[in-house]
Amino acid sequence: MGDQALERKAEQNRELKERILRLKKERNAIILAHYYQRDEIQEIADFRGDSFLLAQKAATTDADVIVFCGVHFMGESAKILAPGKTVVIPDERAGCPMADMVNVEGLRALKRQHPGATVVAYINTSADVKAETDICCTSANAVNVVNSVESDEVIWVPDKNLGDYVSKFTNKKMIIWEGYCNTHDMLSVRDVMEMKAQYPNAKFVVHPECRPEVVKLGDFVGSTTAILKYCRESDHKEFIVGTEDGVGYQLRVDSPDKEFHFASKYLVCPNMKVNNLKKVARCLETLSPQIHVPESVAAKAIQSLERMLQVK
Ligand code: 13P
Ligand code: SF4
Repeated sequence: MGDQALERKAEQNRELKERILRLKKERNAIILAHYYQRDEIQEIADFRGDSFLLAQKAATTDADVIVFCGVHFMGESAKILAPGKTVVIPDERAGCPMADMVNVEGLRALKRQHPGATVVAYINTSADVKAETDICCTSANAVNVVNSVESDEVIWVPDKNLGDYVSKFTNKKMIIWEGYCNTHDMLSVRDVMEMKAQYPNAKFVVHPECRPEVVKLGDFVGSTTAILKYCRESDHKEFIVGTEDGVGYQLRVDSPDKEFHFASKYLVCPNMKVNNLKKVARCLETLSPQIHVPESVAAKAIQSLERMLQVK
């Protein structure tokens, strides 16, 4: 983009941000943004967070309207936890391919094969799947959640990579679904080795949604929040980052003096990026698209989410 085009864009964003702030007041709304959102959305959010923190915020807010800037399952979880609120999302097309990799029929079939197993579902699942689940988890609490259940056998859906990671920290027998995150799963050992050769002093931090052989190379492995904390508190000045590129916004806010190199230019979730400021303003104005979850589904799904929120 040339200088003039950049200036025009900055001016447009300023106007949109003002409009959003005005509408937010009028609607008594709160804006929740996942760390994978575009920088300009994270900038105007009331809360930025990982999926766990944002679920907690949705469950406890006293706003009338929740604008959920993330992907569809996150908006759904917010609606389930805060049924009395209006929950809107900037773009209905923001789905999660990993969440779509498990469905109710498949999960029920697995439950029939393992009747004694507890179902632990990553929060990256649809409301229907959550309704078939005993307890949810996020990447921030997955190990604690699995270790908190009474049974010795766990059905784990849908992320096979996170499942593999968790299985190393538990004695439970884990029956792991074959899903994965298209974005994290594309990071290869070769990508990481090339970056390590280019930046030999950098620490490699990696999200457990990456493949096991990539996770193995990590100097630090953790959820989005854990990666942020590690980088903030570390004495090291340079990091290779193995997770979605939106996390760069908070990394730079926390540690402007440190250098962050993303392990691949493809670590971008296209679903997270369909949201933009224009769509945030529009959904606040029109209060649509809204998230609706049928009551019969929500009544069951809320139990799996609330159980998760209680795990320390
Ligand atoms: P969290 O670190 O927030 O659990 O996010 C992982 C992810 O891929 C969300 O879509
Ligand atoms: Fe789904 Fe992966 Fe995108 Fe998260 S980063 S929303 S898991 S596709």
